[in-house]
Amino acid sequence: MGTANKSTSTRPRARLAVAGLGRMGTVHAENVAFRCPSAQLAAVFDPRPEVAARVASEVGATAVPGYDELLGDPALDGVVVAAPTGVHADLALRAAKAGKHVFCEKPLSLERDATLEVVTALKGAGVNLQVGFHRRFDPSFSAAADRARAGELGDVYLFRASQRDMAPPRPEFLAGSGGIFIDMGIHDFDAARWLVGEVASVSARGTALSGPGFSEIGDFGTAVVVLTFAGGALGVLDISRVAGYGYESSAELMGSRGTVRIDEPFLRGYEWRSRGVANRPLVQSFDRRYSSAFVAELEHFARSIIDGAPPLVTGEDALAAFDLARAADKACRLGQEVSMAPAGQVGKDGAAVVAAARPGVPGRDR
Ligand SMILES: NC(=O)c1ccc[n+]([C@@H]2O[C@H](COP(=O)([O-])OP(=O)(O)OC[C@H]3O[C@@H](n4cnc5c(N)ncnc54)[C@H](O)[C@@H]3O)[C@@H](O)[C@H]2O)c1
Repeated sequence: MGTANKSTSTRPRARLAVAGLGRMGTVHAENVAFRCPSAQLAAVFDPRPEVAARVASEVGATAVPGYDELLGDPALDGVVVAAPTGVHADLALRAAKAGKHVFCEKPLSLERDATLEVVTALKGAGVNLQVGFHRRFDPSFSAAADRARAGELGDVYLFRASQRDMAPPRPEFLAGSGGIFIDMGIHDFDAARWLVGEVASVSARGTALSGPGFSEIGDFGTAVVVLTFAGGALGVLDISRVAGYGYESSAELMGSRGTVRIDEPFLRGYEWRSRGVANRPLVQSFDRRYSSAFVAELEHFARSIIDGAPPLVTGEDALAAFDLARAADKACRLGQEVSMAPAGQVGKDGAAVVAAARPGVPGRDR
């Protein structure tokens, strides 16, 4: 697995703890323990003691029996929150009260009020809040963003993104996820704002044809979103939990001077050829596709703490992406285009349905 970051080097390291040790928390705990040069894993916590004990022994950290014990360590600098989304806000607020910096998995909450409360409270407490929008730390996405910002694409006309899981997560996860737009789409909404700019309006359609159990919980297995950016460019997102063939997270920016296409679907850099067949395995999960981004985002979190600098991805970014996700969900359910409130006029939802909306065409499972 690796050698824990407990070396005697004098390099400063932020002391971090991980709360929630499921799919994502295990990745974060391993990265803090073994791969982030500016971080040190102080402790881990999960309400399932057997899970906490197993991960603690794998990463060479202490498992504490409660979240308060985690926060009670005066030497702890920050907490990585990877618990289910429904408890993020509570864990983030308690960490801030204890004076700890917070890295929180997306989304900050399933509710807008709680999202806003976290952003405001952490700012007031003077601690950093970084949200898990890992694409901002992916080498390919970052290079594309840098070159687009330098003007190499000219005027951007189109943003296209496909995010497709090979298979859906566990039903219990799905039930508490907030739905396909808020749980998955939020990554694309953040990428859209980061790569192109603010969004003026959102339309969306969804289907639950594929199963299993999406319509029973009012969710969709596959969805399509159309964005109109404030500057006039268009965005098209397709999001699916049931792609079957592998994990895909591709994107494209088309501009007047060039187009950048980001797509890293393959597990290996080589292809195996035999009698009329070329064989090249596909990446099957988000943690394989974004393994280096998951390390880089936590290294950035630790580095920001050490340097006393604000992180690159802020609570405001989390709120803006959440508002877009909620708007897409609303647009899909109403069959109407939803316009985002102009800056400074953010309503309760952060979005408002256009009074004279172009009606959507009601379809099956929408
Ligand atoms: N950035 C990404 O690409 C990405 C990918 C997957 C999941 N996530 C996010 O990570 C979070 C966790 O998702 P997951 O797939 O790892 O879920 P999971 O169900 O696999 O794991 C959640 C873990 O949290 C623990 N837990 C439950 N209540 C807790 C509490 N009050 N305090 C601490 N721990 C608690 C559970 O016992 C479990 O071990 C979600 O918010 C999800 O949206 C992000």
